[in-house]
Amino acid sequence: MPATTSPTVLIDQDELQARIHALGQEIRHDLPSEQIHLICVLKGAFLFLGDLIRAMDGHVTIDFMACSSYGAGTSSSGEVRLSKDLDTRIEGRDVILVEDIVDTGLTLHYLQEVLLNRGPRSLRTACLLSKPSRRKIEVKVDYIGFTIEDKFVVGYGLDYAEQYRNLPYIGVLE
Ligand code: IMP
Ligand code: MG
Repeated sequence: MPATTSPTVLIDQDELQARIHALGQEIRHDLPSEQIHLICVLKGAFLFLGDLIRAMDGHVTIDFMACSSYGAGTSSSGEVRLSKDLDTRIEGRDVILVEDIVDTGLTLHYLQEVLLNRGPRSLRTACLLSKPSRRKIEVKVDYIGFTIEDKFVVGYGLDYAEQYRNLPYIGVLE
C-alpha cells in the first residue's frame, strides 16, 4: 500500500551531503595510504554508502551484508540474525562497517563481533545517525553523521515497513 503522509524534514539534502562529504574525507585522512574496504549493512545504509564512497579518494572496495532485528515494527526484538553474508574475506584488511543508524546498539554489537572474529587488520564503524538515549549495550562507533533524539526516522535509505527509503532527506513520522 502506498505511503500517504509526508514525514517532517529533520535533516535536509544539503545537510546530509555536506556531513557525509566531511565524513568521507575524515575516513580517508585516518587511513591515508590504505586500501579501504567498506561493508554496507543492507538495506538501510545503501544510499549512505553510495555518497560516502564518492567522497573518498583512492582505493576503495565494497561488500554487503544484511541482518534482521526489527521486522515491520518500530521497536527492536533484541534478536539479531545474519540474513546475507559477505562475498569476500576480510582477513588482514582495513574495514569500515557502514550502518544507517545505531539505536539500541544490539545490531552493531553483533555485527562487530562477527567481523572481528574474521581477523581484519582494523575495524572501524561509520553510522549516519545515532540515538544515544536508546542504547541498551555500549558499542564503539568511530564516525557518526548526526546525533538525534529518540524519534523514529525514515528516508535516505531508512524505512518504516519498507516504505520511505526513497526520500532524499531524513524525516520524522508524526
Ligand atoms: P539497533 O539494533 O536497535 O541499534 O537497531 C539498529 C537497526 O534498527 C538499524 O539498522 C535500523 O534498521 C533500525 N532502526 C533503528 N531506529 C530506526 C529508525 O528511527 N528508523 C528506521 N530504522 C531504525
Ligand atoms: Mg538496518
